[in-house]
Amino acid sequence: MTEGRSPRDSLTEMTELVLPQHGNAIGTAFGGTVLAWIDVCGAIAAQRHANRVAVTAAIDQVQFLAPIRVGDVVVLSARLNAAFRSSMEVEVEVKVEDTRTGQRRRCVDAFMTFVAIDEAGSTCPVPALVAESADDERRAAAAAERRAARLTKR
Ligand SMILES: CC(C)(COP(=O)(O)OP(=O)(O)OC[C@H]1O[C@@H](n2cnc3c(N)ncnc32)[C@H](O)[C@@H]1OP(=O)(O)O)[C@@H](O)C(=O)NCCC(=O)NCCS
Repeated sequence: MTEGRSPRDSLTEMTELVLPQHGNAIGTAFGGTVLAWIDVCGAIAAQRHANRVAVTAAIDQVQFLAPIRVGDVVVLSARLNAAFRSSMEVEVEVKVEDTRTGQRRRCVDAFMTFVAIDEAGSTCPVPALVAESADDERRAAAAAERRAARLTKR
């Protein structure tokens, strides 16, 4: 297996334009579409870390903090908070970018768990996540607490 890697190694950014087909009856983005983008962005980060296919095991704490409107440019960023044996917690942040000023406004936050799968379809170990900063360490500790709470609900 690959040696440990840092959260920076798997950082993933995705940009989407909210088209009319992504909108609901009041001209804001349909939540399910935003969730699909979050899932894709998070999965790419997990797969970059694991160098394997990773499936979504759980999505929790999704908060739609502000509306996203048809015509908006949406920037999603995903980063690994923690790697356990075969599972990884990925945090995805969604922002709307004002392309005239470059300013970004936070709209959605999500914590997701992905699990690495081998060629036979079994779960398999992932590389360790190596913290490079105090923030990385804080995020990993918070992710471990969330994982404990999450697994009691299985
Ligand atoms: C996720 C999945 C692979 C786990 O398989 P499993 O046989 O339960 O495996 P295990 O009990 O050995 O758990 C494997 C890892 O997944 C984690 N896990 C399993 N269910 C979880 C859940 N609901 N939330 C968070 N983590 C979970 C375990 O904690 C374990 O992590 P670790 O290896 O880092 O300790 C399996 O439930 C699955 O295939 N689910 C469907 C995934 C899918 O199709 N997603 C697409 C959306 S439909």
